[in-house]
Amino acid sequence: MDPPAMDPEISTAKSRIAILGAGSVGSAIGLCLILNPVASEVVLVDPNTALRDAQIKDLGDATTYHGAVGGGGVRIRAGTHKDAGQCDIVVAPLTVAPDLTVAPSGESRTDLLGRNLAILKSATNDMKPFREDTVLLIVANPCDVLTYFAQQYSGLPKGQVLGSGTFLDSARLRGILSEKVGVDASSIDAYVLGEHGESQMVAWSCVTIGAVPLDQCLPPNVTLDRKAIAIETKDKAAKIIEAKGATAYGIAALSASICKSILFDQRNVRPISHWVDDLGCCLSLPVVLGRRGIVRSLNMPLIQEEKDLLAKSASTLKEYIAEAK
Ligand code: 2OP
Repeated sequence: MDPPAMDPEISTAKSRIAILGAGSVGSAIGLCLILNPVASEVVLVDPNTALRDAQIKDLGDATTYHGAVGGGGVRIRAGTHKDAGQCDIVVAPLTVAPDLTVAPSGESRTDLLGRNLAILKSATNDMKPFREDTVLLIVANPCDVLTYFAQQYSGLPKGQVLGSGTFLDSARLRGILSEKVGVDASSIDAYVLGEHGESQMVAWSCVTIGAVPLDQCLPPNVTLDRKAIAIETKDKAAKIIEAKGATAYGIAALSASICKSILFDQRNVRPISHWVDDLGCCLSLPVVLGRRGIVRSLNMPLIQEEKDLLAKSASTLKEYIAEAK
């Protein structure tokens, strides 16, 4: 039996999340949204309809014993880009190609950016007109540059177009610190800022555990090599990609978590890629997330050296944007 197509006219779904791309990341996001229901309907969009429909059938099997918010199962359906533009949230992993943070041999970052930009442009045009409160979440790479262009192409208010950015890097950093200091990662406040990529930086001066600055709460005999930890955090994706070709589960789980923050207006603070006026580009700083995306950005009390690194990351991103224009 073919998977059901979405008809907004007859759909009774109270809330819908569209996923653009039925590859490993898109399908993993679908699974997360089924196992930990956020919306009552998940709409999968992909020009490769055979892959899309197979993923829907497979994911459909996962829905059976997992109730949606408000009762009943999560519906997983096929949809078009037009349908996606009418959803509460559109999550965009975009490609089934290898991850584009790390360039496969022979292709420059600019080549890769050009390829994903073309997909983004046509998908964004096809989604128009957007519902006025739709939030567009870019999880493709290079995340910050694509978030900038998604804002340009979509015409949505800038606060409604965001990128997963360094939320994933920050989670990785917390995981590494957790092992070293023996405290649960959720009790560690630590942020990676700037580009989701090479020029990212760790806001070490603001890392706290239970409101205590990191240096003042290290267990006896534990010293931290900050430089090594920052590199391990940054390179974790490349290590995974080297061995299995792509990352999927981390970004999928965090994408679902961002969707929950937005749809339930949870006001969680997350490092998310968004338009930063002062720096003239999209990059990650902590923001408050609500139903319309970015509620507000938080001004971290960075030391001068960190401010300089952040400005450098912004310059790098602006160069990528200028090259792509
Ligand atoms: C990640 O960091 C590749 O951007 C993806 O896992």
